[in-house]
Amino acid sequence: ISRRNFLKHTSLFASGAAGSAVAVSAINLSAKTQSDQYHYHLTVKAAKANIVGGHITDILSYNGHVFAPIIRAKQGVPVRIDVTNELDEPTTVHWHGLRIPVNMDGVPGTGQVPIAPGDTFTYYFTPPDAGTMWYHTHENSVDQMGRGLVGLMLVDEAEPLKNAENEVVEFDHDIPVMLKNWHLNKDGSYYKISMKRYAARQGTPGLIYTANGQTDFEYDVKAGQTVRLRMVNTSNTQMYRLNVDKPELFKHHPLKIDVLDANPLDYDLAFKDFALGAGMRIDILFVVPDSAGQTLTFLDQHKPMFKLNILANESEKRASSLPVIPKNPVIVGDLDKAEKIEIVLEWAAADDKNGDPLFWNLNTQQGFAPASCKTPNQIADFKLGNSYLVDIRNNTQYPHPIHFHGHTFKVLSYANKDIQPYLADTVMLEKNEAAQILIYADNPGMWMFHCHVIEHMAMGLVGLVKVS
Ligand code: C2O
Ligand code: CU
Ligand code: CU
Repeated sequence: ISRRNFLKHTSLFASGAAGSAVAVSAINLSAKTQSDQYHYHLTVKAAKANIVGGHITDILSYNGHVFAPIIRAKQGVPVRIDVTNELDEPTTVHWHGLRIPVNMDGVPGTGQVPIAPGDTFTYYFTPPDAGTMWYHTHENSVDQMGRGLVGLMLVDEAEPLKNAENEVVEFDHDIPVMLKNWHLNKDGSYYKISMKRYAARQGTPGLIYTANGQTDFEYDVKAGQTVRLRMVNTSNTQMYRLNVDKPELFKHHPLKIDVLDANPLDYDLAFKDFALGAGMRIDILFVVPDSAGQTLTFLDQHKPMFKLNILANESEKRASSLPVIPKNPVIVGDLDKAEKIEIVLEWAAADDKNGDPLFWNLNTQQGFAPASCKTPNQIADFKLGNSYLVDIRNNTQYPHPIHFHGHTFKVLSYANKDIQPYLADTVMLEKNEAAQILIYADNPGMWMFHCHVIEHMAMGLVGLVKVS
């Protein structure tokens, strides 16, 4: 592996070994955990980072680094993460995409007591599903996420991956890319993470784009090798329109989105102008084209995000088949028996009792009960074991990636058109669009249902769904 395939910034790799964390000079992005002891330590603390060339930015970090440790877990194997809060305010960790018990879900007020300054909380759970997940704070989220409290969690499949011929094969490269943009000026200082005029629209944009904490992340691959490229949108507000600059290099096998929110797709979804909303993830699987010397630049519309350099491959061997990502054990709801629920997203200027703006409405009620600006209103009551057909209508002029905690749902339609249904935990609704999702309520608890444009959540686009 070339030097480039290590991150430039010195990092601490959260170790798989019980009770210890091994300091290494860099995170090897391809590293698999050797041990079956999935025990990690995260310390939430203020740190300094070099994000914009030559300038120092004050960040909030997991273990001191702008690219937080990748938590590598395994489907069906318990993982333990001890989180120590060294901030001077409370925090929590939410494990986005994981169907785990509500008391491990990291939502203050409904799932857990926030971790007070100086305290340690142990998260302990068994991931039922494999795939590309992530973690982030769910406390004072606009500020804490905006300043860095986001990281990747990759859950390895319980069984070794196989190709279509049923032979065990591994990817030559498993490349996770944490996309985040920052509300930073060119000198590394912050501008306002949330500004009213944007919060009432698409969300306050971050102008500095990073991939894995770097503005110039690049990675070397060789012609003919197999790649699992994972992209995770950890930005506060940004919706990326994903593209690659040289689609013609893939003329025989056009790039497509193989996995969405950790669930393999049953149909071909072209990798072109794909709207990756905040919170969403995709995996694309491909064989590197025989185009040594070329560079593939991955773009948000036309803006570069990161690069893959194609190196010559001396070996004659070229991959002939890709591993197939197995399906997760998700129980899908029963459409015939499903109860219908409607959720309407609206724009509405209002203030909460502190005079802070509440620009967004869920079902004509502000997400937050007026008596407490912290606890969202309950919007639905689900019976354990029942199915719900949720009709979500975006009656606003802005996109909203809508996320439901603790469950994986089936998207039956979105963008006002019929599609091949797929499984996800977040569904994108662009302006005036509707989506229909089928939820099988199989995880008891009070669960968050919210827009992942985190300012929208903080300003009303949030509700609680009770499953009991
Ligand atoms: Cu990434 Cu409440 O979620
Ligand atoms: Cu979540
Ligand atoms: Cu939104």
